[in-house]
Amino acid sequence: MSEETSKFEWVKVAKIEDIPKNEGRAFPVADRMIAIFESEGQYHALDDFCPHQGASLSAGWIHDGCVACPWHAWRFALSDGTWMDNPKVKTDHFEVQVRDGEIFVAVPIL
Ligand code: FES
Repeated sequence: MSEETSKFEWVKVAKIEDIPKNEGRAFPVADRMIAIFESEGQYHALDDFCPHQGASLSAGWIHDGCVACPWHAWRFALSDGTWMDNPKVKTDHFEVQVRDGEIFVAVPIL
């Protein structure tokens, strides 16, 4: 189910049909929740926990390459987790691979 590399472990998180177009879904991975988003045919993974007050980012809405938090609309870039109001702040972003219709996320090995 997973393969180990030197610093990351690729973990199977979902199937592509689990993520509706232009939406997100959250999954438990290695003691945290990771949000997987579909946007324009690409899949992205961010920490699901909004760094403002902890809303689930997977319930946010996707627009222009960002997800807007459902509580107070802070926007985070899907490509790297940057908070759009202050690029010095980021939420965790994870590399994603799709293999045979299954979504794998690179999770840091603790
Ligand atoms: S909890 Fe996400 S913007 Fe406030």
